[in-house]
Amino acid sequence: MTLNPKLTKLLNEQINNEMASSYIYLAMAAWFEQTPYSGFASWMFNQSREETMHALKFYQYVVDRDAKVELETIAKPKTDFKSPLDVFQQSLKQEQKVTQQINDLFEVAEQVKDHASKNLLLWFLNEQMEEEKTVRDMLDRLKLAGNDPASLLVLDREAGSRKAEALAEQSAT
Ligand code: FEO
Repeated sequence: MTLNPKLTKLLNEQINNEMASSYIYLAMAAWFEQTPYSGFASWMFNQSREETMHALKFYQYVVDRDAKVELETIAKPKTDFKSPLDVFQQSLKQEQKVTQQINDLFEVAEQVKDHASKNLLLWFLNEQMEEEKTVRDMLDRLKLAGNDPASLLVLDREAGSRKAEALAEQSAT
């Protein structure tokens, strides 16, 4: 079954959206590297890698469906932040935006009755739910920690190990 042209265009846009996400998280990691928060830096670095993997998953899908991949310019990310809380608030907004993009893509796949694409997009929708939840949990705890350096450093240490564990689990499956 040939990939519908509108769906092909949107899937190509999603390759770009995921690469842009990867760049946004890399900029967040770089910002954290200039602070004492090496755990948050590693969280954001790993998140950036995950977003690149998402882009490659969309890329491979377009290739496998025998459609043409069209790569576009990746937007320059924001590089300055106020605090760990500010970074995670922006991370949540970014994930909510991506969820909306994938939801819109799913609707188009449904309109053109492309069940294989719906299947791929369902995987992404589940992934988005997980990602939003993880970021929301960290945000709640950052709000509790406020400006207390000791609490922030505890969260930083946890952030460093938790994300690494999640990635190790992913690569083992
Ligand atoms: Fe691939 Fe978290 O968006």
